Amino acid sequence: MSGAFLMDTYGERELRLVRGAGCRVWDAAGRRYLDALMGIAVCGVGHAHPAITAVLAAQAGQLVHASNLYRTAPQEALAEKLCAVAGMERAFFGNSGAEANEAAIKLSRLYARERGIERPVVLVAEGGFHGRTLAALSATSSARARAGFAPLFDGFVRVPFDDLAALERYGDDPAVVAVMLEPVQGEGGIRIPAAGYLRGVRALCDRCGWLLILDEVQTGNGRTGTHFAQAGAGVCADILTTAKGLGNGVPIGACLARGVAAGLFGPGSHGSTYGGNPLVCAVAGKVFDLIESEGLAARAAELGEWLRVRLAAELAGCEAVREVRGCGLMLAIEMRRDCGELVRRAAAAGLLINVTAGCCVRLLPALNMSAAEAEELVGTLCPVILHWAADVAENGEGDS
Ligand SMILES: Cc1ncc(COP(=O)(O)O)c(C=O)c1O
Repeated sequence: MSGAFLMDTYGERELRLVRGAGCRVWDAAGRRYLDALMGIAVCGVGHAHPAITAVLAAQAGQLVHASNLYRTAPQEALAEKLCAVAGMERAFFGNSGAEANEAAIKLSRLYARERGIERPVVLVAEGGFHGRTLAALSATSSARARAGFAPLFDGFVRVPFDDLAALERYGDDPAVVAVMLEPVQGEGGIRIPAAGYLRGVRALCDRCGWLLILDEVQTGNGRTGTHFAQAGAGVCADILTTAKGLGNGVPIGACLARGVAAGLFGPGSHGSTYGGNPLVCAVAGKVFDLIESEGLAARAAELGEWLRVRLAAELAGCEAVREVRGCGLMLAIEMRRDCGELVRRAAAAGLLINVTAGCCVRLLPALNMSAAEAEELVGTLCPVILHWAADVAENGEGDS
């Protein structure tokens, strides 16, 4: 077996994973790892959770797929749960975060048409990431992700993140129809806006008649300490997209909407063959129930704060570390230089982490990680970082 028949979109990958349980994964050689990444914020309730496995097996034995020509109970039940917790009225299901955002962007276009705006503009943020499909990529800021794909869609104007005045400058622009933001930027390096920023954006959107689209693909499903991060920020979007932790690993994305945005799609205006099939909706429904019944959002808030404080204490005085920050269980240790090398070093120490934005160690552990596992995470990661920092100081090694 080799990767030679796969397109080379992910670069070199050393680990071949075969099994997971809770916060642990095992590679093909039988080595065990503590997983502090969980499939990039996906497996929030842990790998191979018995309740998820049971639902998956039961639904697989009943009806995996029906197409959206038919109603299914798991889809309708999930839509109701998500709308209730997010303050929304209607859901559209796709298969990924990018598809959820495509749906949101298409809604913004329909909203523009209703208002007679021919060439609408959506304001997006520098450092924002919304996916790899062409419209989602057009809304994305990363030059690396965009490279080579011109012509991308116009109709997206990028402004600095966490800068309300930058958005207010467009207050008189009749072409603007929406603002699309992550409540906390994930791929951009766990950028947490100042308290009050999102409330200010909400008020601005209300004043200008713009839709507020919150991309909660990464922040959603308990990760930041509330079921959706918008609640923690004290706002309610017009359109909220989510994916990742929604399905704990089964491919599902959701675009939720309320008010005028909830009524824009009509029969035939959007669709997906697989989107929201009974298998993924049954699983996502169980994930939702676990997050709610086990208080996993509150647990993420508590454990995240504990980890942030512990990591900051252990790394205090380390010259290479610029900042330790976090919002629930979205944590970053920002270095003063690129640190991609830390991924390999951590794996060698039995820990899976990720580096994003070049210089940010990103931690996205399971919402139900135990205190002992959290202690192990700190105890494994900090020596790896300190060792790397010493090597960098000594001989300049350490760039990815
Ligand atoms: C905020 C955000 N939006 C959208 C996406 C795209 O999601 P997917 O990879 O499921 O298409 C991501 C993925 O990292 C994300 O973090």
